[in-house]
Amino acid sequence: MPVSRHHGVDVITGSGLDEALRGAEVVVDVTDAPARTEEAGLHFFRTATANLLAAAASAGVEHHVALSVVGAQRLRSGYFLAKELQEYQVGKSPIPHSIVRAALSFEALQAIAVADTRPDGVHVAPALVRPLATDDVAAAVAHVAVGVPLLGTLEVAGPEEYRLDDLMAKLLAANGDARSVVTDVRAGLFAAQVGKGALLPEPGAHIGHTTFSMWLAQR
Ligand SMILES: NC(=O)c1ccc[n+]([C@@H]2O[C@H](COP(=O)([O-])OP(=O)(O)OC[C@H]3O[C@@H](n4cnc5c(N)ncnc54)[C@H](OP(=O)(O)O)[C@@H]3O)[C@@H](O)[C@H]2O)c1
Repeated sequence: MPVSRHHGVDVITGSGLDEALRGAEVVVDVTDAPARTEEAGLHFFRTATANLLAAAASAGVEHHVALSVVGAQRLRSGYFLAKELQEYQVGKSPIPHSIVRAALSFEALQAIAVADTRPDGVHVAPALVRPLATDDVAAAVAHVAVGVPLLGTLEVAGPEEYRLDDLMAKLLAANGDARSVVTDVRAGLFAAQVGKGALLPEPGAHIGHTTFSMWLAQR
């Protein structure tokens, strides 16, 4: 059953949450903060995760699945800090859990391109990424949700490795967007400074099947 403010449930105020989780066996948390900054992220995930876990415990939920981001355990700033906090809260809860860490999605890359309105072009860090389609994230999360709790983490990433600035240039070209990409080590991602390999998954990650060109052709 989908649960969000659109469905009358707010994980920050807790409004409607107990009723929504009554009878649930598995909770899959794919909520997100209103902005991907450290401040907004910390405020959101501290409160939302505590409320969700408390309501899940009251409802006798047997498996709590949280969607996190590749790099959450490694990057110590920005939105990633908030995702690490979410992972910590989930991990120390008595409810059996699974954490799925997904790499940057193609859809999120598109959102970054739209949001960056600087006059000299889109500023992007030269970080290595293995981006994937949201559909592949959803499939991995669904697979984990119906399985035995991992009591740990599964990482999910895409089939190809790119430099983020090169990938952004390919996306702008495919969009017919005349803006150029400015390679900028200070651009970071989601208000965090990212080193060259900081966004790559750990060895053993589950690899989605959708390539960038497949995603472009399907959208
Ligand atoms: N996009 C990526 O590249 C990526 C990669 C890895 C991991 N993730 C993780 O995936 C999760 C979802 O990301 P997304 O890009 O899908 O975010 P999104 O499109 O912004 O969706 C966020 C969802 O959270 C719900 N929500 C927000 N505030 C809420 C509240 N107070 N109470 C109840 N529901 C609320 C929203 O529904 P309503 O507006 O109806 O409330 C919406 O369904 C995040 O945890 C993110 O860290 C994303």
